[in-house]
Amino acid sequence: MRVLVTGGAGFIGSHTTDELLRRGYDVTILDSLEKPVHMKGKPSYIPAKVKFIEGDVRDREKMIEALDGVEAVYHFAAYQDYLPDFSKFFWINSVGTALIYELIVEKKLPVKKVVVASSQAVAGEGRYAAKDGTLYHPELRPVSALDNGQWEFLDPRTIEILKWQPTPETDAKPLNQYALSKYSQELMALAFGKRYDIPSVAMRFSIVQGPRQSFYNNYSGACRIFSLSYFFDRAPLIYEDGEQVRDFVNIHDVVQANLKVLEDDRANYEMFNVGGGRAYTVKEFCSIVAKVFGKDSLDPRIPGLYRFGDTRHIISDVSKLKALGWNPTRTAEDSVKEYREYLEAQTDIDDIMDFAEQRMQNLNVVRPAKGVQS
Ligand SMILES: NC(=O)c1ccc[n+]([C@@H]2O[C@H](COP(=O)([O-])OP(=O)(O)OC[C@H]3O[C@@H](n4cnc5c(N)ncnc54)[C@H](O)[C@@H]3O)[C@@H](O)[C@H]2O)c1
Repeated sequence: MRVLVTGGAGFIGSHTTDELLRRGYDVTILDSLEKPVHMKGKPSYIPAKVKFIEGDVRDREKMIEALDGVEAVYHFAAYQDYLPDFSKFFWINSVGTALIYELIVEKKLPVKKVVVASSQAVAGEGRYAAKDGTLYHPELRPVSALDNGQWEFLDPRTIEILKWQPTPETDAKPLNQYALSKYSQELMALAFGKRYDIPSVAMRFSIVQGPRQSFYNNYSGACRIFSLSYFFDRAPLIYEDGEQVRDFVNIHDVVQANLKVLEDDRANYEMFNVGGGRAYTVKEFCSIVAKVFGKDSLDPRIPGLYRFGDTRHIISDVSKLKALGWNPTRTAEDSVKEYREYLEAQTDIDDIMDFAEQRMQNLNVVRPAKGVQS
């Protein structure tokens, strides 16, 4: 069976490609080698035996070429950033997904499965519970609270702190351009899939970690930033108070999840959270990175800055995917160890650290709470 992997030069796509080849599938990759993800051109890890097409998911002719002889599609190519060029998110992520279904239907292609990459970002904020069990799924915290360093959500009735809960697939409250575009991909996959009998699956990935994550973007998050900080002997910067909870999942567990939904028909027309199944505070994760890099004595800086738009706590409930027999097997420490090995194998990375941080500063995403020097 030939499988098309859009975004196959990227982090999740390339690892999924390796596993597909290992299991005997033929693979076509379509990837536009976007900057800043691929600052140094086509990555050397792309296996020679894949059919590689350099092209954009919005390019009809390239997509017709890429879909030739294909029986399954992984759609990973996406625009991911914090930039306010709203239309580009929908242009690439939503229109790109629509085009895949359009071509399958129009050309009556024998595609038996489409797996689209969604994101935990679709959930928006996490789910919270009050002491009496009342559940909340709030929107973003108001700037007035953040400016005052009031990080936690409060029960409006009692003013007590709400406790985070695992977030199931049924919660969706996309709050930014990226999340909205990813939500549209999920909805399209499930609606077009059902309507035209194209078995489809949407995967809501949590924060995925491991080697091959681009060094040049900011959305690759805490693992990249903390690792680079310790690698370059700088104290990492933690936003808010570092007590915010996150959910990290190792790339190899993600690959197993991707293969699971390809090969198991029970996954058809479903959407799954794909997370690590364990909550880490950002502080805790930072100390794991410090330990892996042997820099325990270099304490992080926690000056009270916040990033506008960040969620307070989010952890995905992965019981639905577990019910199919998948289980996350690796810890955040495993991921950081692998990332360290990858980082240390690079030869020309001196420019990395400032590149993404400078972009964030320019966007005014990072802001101080009152009385804090930014
Ligand atoms: N990595 C994560 O933590 C994470 C979390 C949630 C969701 N996701 C989703 O998983 C998917 C893969 O993410 P990743 O981490 O591998 O990202 P990545 O940036 O490493 O890979 C994406 C690939 O898509 C390619 N691409 C981008 N725009 C394209 C276009 N218009 N046409 C063709 N190719 C294009 C890029 O060149 C890149 O190789 C994305 O859809 C992303 O939204 C990732």
